[in-house]
Amino acid sequence: MSKQAQLAVDGGPKAFPKASGKPQPKIGIEEFMSVAERFGFTPAALKRLRAAVSDTDLRGNGPNLARYACPFPDDQPPKGVQFEQLATEMFGVKHALAVSSGTAALHAAFVAAGVGPGTEVICPGLGFMATSMAVMMAGGVPVFADIDESLQLDPSKIEGQITPRTVAVAPTHHWSNVADMAPILRVARRHKLKVVEDCAQAPGAKYRGRYVGSIGDIGCFSISAYKIIGGGEGGMVVTSNDRLFDRVRQLAEGGGLWRPDRFAAPRYAGELFPGTNYRLSELESAVDLVQLRKLDQVCDRFRAVSRRILSQLATWREIRPQTINDPDGFIGYQLRLFPATTALSAKIATALRAEGISAGTRGKGHAPDWHVSACMYPVILKAGHIKGGSVFEDPRWLSRGGRVNYRGVCPVAQDLYGREVAIHIDQWWSERDCDRVARGINKVLSAYCTADPDGKPWS
Ligand SMILES: Cc1ncc(COP(=O)(O)O)c(C=O)c1O
Repeated sequence: MSKQAQLAVDGGPKAFPKASGKPQPKIGIEEFMSVAERFGFTPAALKRLRAAVSDTDLRGNGPNLARYACPFPDDQPPKGVQFEQLATEMFGVKHALAVSSGTAALHAAFVAAGVGPGTEVICPGLGFMATSMAVMMAGGVPVFADIDESLQLDPSKIEGQITPRTVAVAPTHHWSNVADMAPILRVARRHKLKVVEDCAQAPGAKYRGRYVGSIGDIGCFSISAYKIIGGGEGGMVVTSNDRLFDRVRQLAEGGGLWRPDRFAAPRYAGELFPGTNYRLSELESAVDLVQLRKLDQVCDRFRAVSRRILSQLATWREIRPQTINDPDGFIGYQLRLFPATTALSAKIATALRAEGISAGTRGKGHAPDWHVSACMYPVILKAGHIKGGSVFEDPRWLSRGGRVNYRGVCPVAQDLYGREVAIHIDQWWSERDCDRVARGINKVLSAYCTADPDGKPWS
């Protein structure tokens, strides 16, 4: 046999020792420039950037923007992992998982917490519909409990909504305020309910010195462009419970990449079940890692501004300021007040805007708004994505006595949302700006209201 014909496994020459075609990086400078364009650099800056870099500067085959599989050449952990490590350190929790959105975080959390067909979760009458929809995505039924003047879940309203089907309660820390977690936890522990905190609207807020998200069993964050930190779309789940974390990862990474031995049989009952892929991309993680590093500074700036304004506000007979459950933990990117009537709210908001202060009203008299349970149509219409396929028609729920009425529930949420005036705060305001805004608020309120030194204080 000629040497040429000898098999390589027997010491012969390789048929294909090396490719001769010259590879191009799969993801190269054009993609990098496309990201730079999305950042909004000027054409001149883009030109300078393009001149400074070329495909030949890229290491290896160029970047791999997936979280798994491709270690970075200098062995830096993937950005997603760095993002999670920082979250565990900051929030004082054992585990964190970066996911593609706040909704994804909630879906994974509810599944992990044991929400499924035949179960119910108590959600606040005011929050965002993603919470109750995620309950339904997990197969459960959301049951709304009313709020109080903090605009958060009223702890005294939870117990009345608990049924033998209830498995969790999901307080939302809404609009930079925090839910009153101590009594919520007490009720939840008494009834053996899991507590899933929705922190999408208040990352960085604290309750009695602890970051929201680290207080209940699982914390869910949205890290999106619409929140105080976040570049595009992203989310995070945090927990200190190992088993819950396994189940969060199984839902969010159903391909099993999270597992120590990916394709191995279950290590314990309840570890494996159908999941999806909610992984956060490396591009988004790279931005969100930097955003998370800035979180405390952002919150501190908002706190300083809101405190300075609140400390100067007079009290009025016709005005109830929003209750702030923890003045030290409150972020304060919005301030809220409840004038006695919707007509007064409208007048106050209009007058504030005329003074140059960004203020708005929502709720009653406005277009339906999916923050208040009465308007959360995809939930309260009780429809499924196919006829007959909704959680409300599930025999596993019905046979356990399941029934829920969404008509006329949460009257406090409807009333307060219909009367509230929200004032938007800018973290970059100077002390002079704060003083002028405070004076402007007092000016408007003094024109329409009666001074009441014994009125409800602002914080
Ligand atoms: C309270 C609350 N929960 C959940 C979400 C959903 O987050 P995402 O838009 O990242 O899915 C939002 C988004 O606005 C929210 O406000």
